[in-house]
Amino acid sequence: MEVIRVDAEHPDAASVERAAVVLRRGGLVAFPTETVYGLGGNALDTEAVARIFRAKGRPTYNPLIVHVADSKAARALVTRWPDAAGRLAAAFWPGPLTLVLPKAAAVPEAVTAGLSTVAVRVPAHAVALALLRAAGVPVAAPSANPSTRVSPTTATHVARTLEAEVDLILDAGPASVGIESTVLDLSGAEPTLLRPGAVGREEIEAALGSPVSLAAAHPPENASAPRPSPGMLERHYAPRAALRLFPEGDAEACGRLARQASEAGLTTGALLRTPIEAPVDHPYPMPATHDGYARLLYAALHAMDDAGCDVILVEDVPGDGAWAAVRDRLRRAAHGS
Ligand code: TXA
Ligand code: MG
Repeated sequence: MEVIRVDAEHPDAASVERAAVVLRRGGLVAFPTETVYGLGGNALDTEAVARIFRAKGRPTYNPLIVHVADSKAARALVTRWPDAAGRLAAAFWPGPLTLVLPKAAAVPEAVTAGLSTVAVRVPAHAVALALLRAAGVPVAAPSANPSTRVSPTTATHVARTLEAEVDLILDAGPASVGIESTVLDLSGAEPTLLRPGAVGREEIEAALGSPVSLAAAHPPENASAPRPSPGMLERHYAPRAALRLFPEGDAEACGRLARQASEAGLTTGALLRTPIEAPVDHPYPMPATHDGYARLLYAALHAMDDAGCDVILVEDVPGDGAWAAVRDRLRRAAHGS
């Protein structure tokens, strides 16, 4: 595996071309986007797509997002481009919004896990866009982490877990958004939010001038029932450590959980939003704003894993819409742990 350091705003053409060649030859390139690093392969090459699934240990029923450089390239991958898609693309692309639309025949079923729809997005990152243009093919890219684990916001996170599987990493420093894109299904009768992300539901509703419904929070256990979003496994974005949420500002609850854990001989960490004293081995102060928090969340979880934490105490975040995506990630990371 090769790591090439590139400038996040002005990547040099030769480095980008090196990566584009790897993609065109069926190889895998980890590249930066504004949300998290992606593990990219040529979306039209079923062998490359199969390699992505193998590299991540990803269940084959979980479809991939296809990245393109502009809406024209996105339209070439779908059979229907509703008015809503046009409006949202104009409002949020390039940006952290993924649209699910009926797929064109050119998109292999391996990418969409056999679904009749495809997820497409134009990332807001100069390196990603330069790579997509140079490659000249749509790039299927899930987050560059082993399935169910914490997504990578730096090249180091990628190298640590996927070193053996990736041919090349473009390292452009830390991601600016820090959590994954919002996934919105436009293939049905009404727009449905499948995954909360950096673009808020309210912002989407404002751009559409109409309401957006929410997909069922958890996929049905019944395997034959339709899965609105195959990727929404309950335990996801999970560090090795167990996560325990406690109410905002509740120093007493935090102390109790910390004492229980240390009496059991466990190494403890804490993600703290308010200046409470947490009797843990590795306290980690987090930003007070939702976007600042999102930017640092995965790096904090990776750091706690590196520090050997067995338990991470997490001070809960506010309940309003602006925090929906962060709240979703924290709950998924905590689920079943
Ligand atoms: O920010 C992001 O979206 C990052 C960067 C690399 O772009 N990518 C990412 O990909 O988060 P991944 O594979 O980790 O998550 C893709 C999500 C999954 O929940 C998957 O189930 C859903 O999108 N998805 C993909 N295609 C879909 C489809 N046709 N219908 C419904 N959901 C789909
Ligand atoms: Mg992922």
